[in-house]
Amino acid sequence: TTRIFSGIKPTGHLTLGNYLGALRQWVTVDQHRADALFCVVDLHALTVDHDPARVRRLSRQVATLFLAAGLDPALCTLFVQSHVDEHTRLSYVLECTASDGEMRRMIQYKEKAAKERATGGSVRLSLLTYPVLMAADILAYGADEVPVGDDQAQHVELTRDLAVRFNQRYGHTFTVPKAVLPAVAARVMDLQDPTSKMGKSHADTSGIVYLLDEPDVARRKVMRAVTDSGSEVVHDREAQPGIANLLEILAACTGDDGGPAELAARYSSYGALKKDTAEAVVETLRPIRERHAQLCADPGYVDEVLRAGAERARGLARPTVDAAYEAIGLLPAR
Ligand code: TYM
Repeated sequence: TTRIFSGIKPTGHLTLGNYLGALRQWVTVDQHRADALFCVVDLHALTVDHDPARVRRLSRQVATLFLAAGLDPALCTLFVQSHVDEHTRLSYVLECTASDGEMRRMIQYKEKAAKERATGGSVRLSLLTYPVLMAADILAYGADEVPVGDDQAQHVELTRDLAVRFNQRYGHTFTVPKAVLPAVAARVMDLQDPTSKMGKSHADTSGIVYLLDEPDVARRKVMRAVTDSGSEVVHDREAQPGIANLLEILAACTGDDGGPAELAARYSSYGALKKDTAEAVVETLRPIRERHAQLCADPGYVDEVLRAGAERARGLARPTVDAAYEAIGLLPAR
């Protein structure tokens, strides 16, 4: 069977981008068709300035939202990265496979490092090695597919390179994975700045819809979305990024098979498009918010799901990581 691995880092409240770019596929398709593991990648949240209590709180919140969005522990494995030692064990070995130059070429590293330096901060070494830990997350489980949004495609490419290189040098050890992007909404843009990605750690939140936003808050954010200077509704990311973004959000939320281009033909005004998009977003988020509130009343249940998930994950990752240790020349412990 196909093995799937993906994760979300607890660096902020989850956004509509995380849902449409990743979580929605996991829930509606991936958990039903493959042996899927979904991970709260908490170690990755330590690569930038962080508040320990907040990371802990958000880790629980992300796990709760996995369940609230519809991931079913009877169908897939849900766990927290730091609960399974194999991730960091394998990461070191992969650091011995990767070069510093290829790390410095990663777009997200360049952007985040530049941002840290611009605000006078220092860049944590773990920010540079972040993609290696991500590769370890994926390769430890022999994942065939990695369902992610567009911004993670480069990291999955790097993971492939590392897997191929390791296999060539030390003998076949790793499955070479591939990224799987959603057909629409692989890159949901900020509603106030449709040329930049909707991101959970952005400071200005007016263009970001959070999964736990109240209906009227989410509705208002969509209704106030920046649109473009034309008046015709067409799906053109270059010429009309604001409208294209709304069309993609609408198509993804309604599961409209025709997609954004066909949807565009049905609208003659921006106002009507915004109104329908706002309602579609509100209806998409409603059941998630409701289930999240119910699950918050039962933290013991979430803990138990994560405990069982980590146990299964450990059992899967252990043999692969042991094999990598042996292949690279380490003396097995007896
Ligand atoms: P993270 O936590 O930033 O985002 C989680 C997932 O949401 C997707 N995503 C988006 N998709 C569409 N539009 C957006 N605006 C948007 N914002 C985020 C991301 O592409 C991602 O799929 N490095 C990863 C976490 C990670 C991981 C892994 C993923 C660590 N190890 C192993 C897959 C496999 C990250 O920072 O995602």
